[in-house]
Amino acid sequence: MAYRIGIVGGDGIGPEVIAEGLKVIKASGVTFDTVEYDLGGDRYGRDGTVLPDEILDEWRGLDALYLGAVGTPEVPPGLIERGLLLKMRFALDLYINLRPFVLAAEEIDFRVVRENTEGSYAGEGGSLRRGTPHEIATQGSVNTRYGVERAVRFAFDLAMTRRRHLTLVHKTNVLTFSGDLWERTFNEVARDYPDVATAYNHVDAACIYFVQSPQQYDVIVTDNLFGDILTDLGGAVSGGIGLASSANLNPERTGPSMFEPVHGSAPDIAGQGIANPKAAILSGAMMLDFLGESNAAARVVAACADPSTDVEGTVAIGDTVAGLLT
Ligand code: IPM
Ligand code: MN
Repeated sequence: MAYRIGIVGGDGIGPEVIAEGLKVIKASGVTFDTVEYDLGGDRYGRDGTVLPDEILDEWRGLDALYLGAVGTPEVPPGLIERGLLLKMRFALDLYINLRPFVLAAEEIDFRVVRENTEGSYAGEGGSLRRGTPHEIATQGSVNTRYGVERAVRFAFDLAMTRRRHLTLVHKTNVLTFSGDLWERTFNEVARDYPDVATAYNHVDAACIYFVQSPQQYDVIVTDNLFGDILTDLGGAVSGGIGLASSANLNPERTGPSMFEPVHGSAPDIAGQGIANPKAAILSGAMMLDFLGESNAAARVVAACADPSTDVEGTVAIGDTVAGLLT
């Protein structure tokens, strides 16, 4: 039976890289039907549509969603990010953002488990007296025991399938309320996983280790904002953001999970055919793996690591990777 996959190419380089991802998935031999959704900053500019509830309801019946990137410089910051991407993550309860970082030549191989529905992203806060000298703006971080615990448990389970080492990253020396909740939850859950060795890093120190000795990490678990920032750095130290893939997961599979590259729409290089599609292709491999097509997924990952695929041009890279699979 063919999988039904919703496609949001989005803005900028999004559609270019997703086209190569679809080409590669097809070459892997997995059969799927696609449903395309014209959404993002461009669509908003045309008719004001961001993400209607009818589309969200349609998505609940799909097997997966595959997204390029959304956001354009013309649209006010946050409108598309909050109204489309975060709405999607929250409404579909995609509470894990899983981001792998692998650079075999330097023995880097770790995963960041980013909590994906809470923290500073939750939308808590507001402003008063906007535009006056007495303006106030607050933006709190929302951390629930339930939300933290399910992310931490996912990370321990993942560590059990790997080298059995899990690091909590936070800033417990300053964020004494949220950090305390994270640390206690982490330590309590750790008792259920006696075979997993644990560590703790403050987020600022983790930035140093990411640059100096990323080999020390196996699995990292952290909150939404720290996870956002750390995973850009993770990409930069493991071959570049052009290789960084991600999966927004609903681990209970009560609805579709969503797969997207870590990078954004990169309007500065859009339409030039020079974006690296490997982050999108590797996100497609994560989708295959989550759908149960682990052989096809492994073949795609291996093809992307093949030196013969280090060519110039979005389409040329996609063609070369696909060529290794057929
Ligand atoms: C990411 C992106 C998003 C985020 C933006 C576009 C809202 O940076 O997926 O990392 O901050 O989560
Ligand atoms: Mn980001």
